[in-house]
Amino acid sequence: MTTSGVRLRAAPTADLSPAELTRLRALLDDAFAGRFGDDDWSHALGGVHVLAEADGEPVGHGAVVVRQLVAGERTLRTGYVEAVATAAPWRRRGVGSAVMAEVERLVAGGFQLGALSSSRQAVGLYAARGWHRWTGAVAALTPAGIVDSPGEAVFVLPTPHTPAGLDTSARLVCDWRPGDPW
Ligand SMILES: CC(C)(COP(=O)(O)OP(=O)(O)OC[C@H]1O[C@@H](n2cnc3c(N)ncnc32)[C@H](O)[C@@H]1OP(=O)(O)O)[C@@H](O)C(=O)NCCC(=O)NCCS
Repeated sequence: MTTSGVRLRAAPTADLSPAELTRLRALLDDAFAGRFGDDDWSHALGGVHVLAEADGEPVGHGAVVVRQLVAGERTLRTGYVEAVATAAPWRRRGVGSAVMAEVERLVAGGFQLGALSSSRQAVGLYAARGWHRWTGAVAALTPAGIVDSPGEAVFVLPTPHTPAGLDTSARLVCDWRPGDPW
């Protein structure tokens, strides 16, 4: 139990029923006010979902999916955080923070780095939790080669498995996928 009446659980996509996935997609469509597309949905699938639920309905969410990020010369098994959202009536009550605490536990246990691309609204949430902005250039490995991703607010969280001496001013390159690469 987190904030009053809200329960947290973590589940792989395979354990969510079609009805649960439909309700989760509806939460994300509402929370992102029409800016959450099919590619964004695809990016949130295949890993582990952290769900905040009230009366069995999802009111908050974050997903951790596996990606390979290349920082300078190092390839890092990265827990990439997608589709962080709280239903509008539940905001500013600690739901997003509770979801992120569980997301961070999953990232710390299994990955060499946590990473995400922040919306303007969420920068304060991540910064307050110890995520820090990647200071180097960010780019994507596309079928046409490495292409810069200017303007992305990429945040990272070191884990106990982060290689010593990781240079956060190096160029950070993400693997390729349809839709927004970050
Ligand atoms: C960003 C988002 C997920 C935050 O969710 P949330 O549940 O409101 O998060 P929290 O309540 O844990 O914290 C958010 C803020 O509320 C404050 N807060 C937390 N508990 C509070 C309480 N009991 N009373 C007042 N404020 C509180 C936090 O300090 C934080 O303050 P800040 O915005 O000044 O940094 C939510 O606003 C959202 O869904 N936005 C739209 C989608 C989006 O942009 N997602 C991020 C994608 S990267």
